[in-house]
Amino acid sequence: MKLARRIQEVAPFYVMDVVRAAREQEAQWQRQGRNMIHLSVGEPDFSAPEPVVQAGIAALREGRSGYTLAPGLPALREAIAAHYQAKHGVPVDPRRVFITAGASGALTLACLLLVEPGDEVLMPDPTYPCNKNFVAAAGGIPRLLPTTAATRFQPTAAQIDAAWGPATRGVLLASPSNPTGTSIAPDELARIAAVVRKRGGFLLVDEIYLELGFDPAYGRTALALDDTVISINSFSKYFQMTGWRLGWMVVPEDLVEPLTRLAGNLYICPSSPAQHAALACFAPETLAEAERRRAEFARRRDVIVPALEVLGLDVPVLPDGAFYVWVDCSRYSRDSWDFCFDVMRETGVVLVPGKDFATIQPERWFRLSYANSVENLREAADRLGAYLRPRERQADPARRAMADEPLA
Ligand SMILES: Cc1ncc(COP(=O)(O)O)c(C=O)c1O
Repeated sequence: MKLARRIQEVAPFYVMDVVRAAREQEAQWQRQGRNMIHLSVGEPDFSAPEPVVQAGIAALREGRSGYTLAPGLPALREAIAAHYQAKHGVPVDPRRVFITAGASGALTLACLLLVEPGDEVLMPDPTYPCNKNFVAAAGGIPRLLPTTAATRFQPTAAQIDAAWGPATRGVLLASPSNPTGTSIAPDELARIAAVVRKRGGFLLVDEIYLELGFDPAYGRTALALDDTVISINSFSKYFQMTGWRLGWMVVPEDLVEPLTRLAGNLYICPSSPAQHAALACFAPETLAEAERRRAEFARRRDVIVPALEVLGLDVPVLPDGAFYVWVDCSRYSRDSWDFCFDVMRETGVVLVPGKDFATIQPERWFRLSYANSVENLREAADRLGAYLRPRERQADPARRAMADEPLA
């Protein structure tokens, strides 16, 4: 069957090769009584907080499972708007909150709404791989902007201004980012917003990890900048509701009507039991639990990052949020793909090679997800240490020189 051309532009996930190999190995290791440690998954190891589960059960029991309006339950839109006021001191009109099937649904809708075939959208390299594909699926062209550790792997306003061409329509950023866990400094984001405004484009800021931030210097929502910024968000990470498929975006008011038409036609509405359950997210006891879990993620970061550095696995920028570390393995290997597979075979620790996220020096990096217990993180560090120690002695001078090269 002839497939639409747009599907050819949608790249596969290389990480699926890792997942498949890890599954096969796990079956074998389990038979031998050995365990694998998965530091590859991009989802929290907690499930939804108990009040959310109870609210979901009650909604199902009481039959609150029919369609809702396309932009979502008014009460949920109001609760989200109130949260911006309470937590960030930013007033948001509930009519600007649009509930979606995860941040993925929001990004899909936003790209279909704003991107014409042939339009360019600027985004950083490395980036969350799906971001390229949301743009490509709308017929647009993702244009990657190389970043370095010096700018926390985030693009600068000057870079965006210089890269803006006749076909450029907008910018898609994530702060904190996946795979690096690093945020854009608020003053730089303000400068980026000014450039985008001057150019008459759109600024989409994926803030799915905003509430999982550990450094108050970066914790401010982009919505504080102005009413034209589009903020993407989700219940997946901070509220640990990945499979419930619920997210939202805050958009300029005039986008709500066309989004309602688009979403209503494409999928009618987001899951209504999930929306009823999500109302419980903003209850004080749920927020207290979410904050405890955030603190636990910060504790894990503070365990794993120093442990990696002691091993000579460099983390050039300390992550300030999410649950990822972007790690330089060039001291030990010329190719993070081979490195990750070898580490998995030898130690059972599962990591994700940089290839999915980066086009610049993907072979230098891997992503580690610390959505795992402190005990497992310590065990993983021990296993990595035992694996790396003999290799450190053999590390050839060329490899060491690569590790000492400035970061691209
Ligand atoms: C940066 C980023 N954006 C969006 C998503 C999609 O999240 P969801 O659709 O579950 O809300 C993810 C998931 O890992 C992500 O890391």
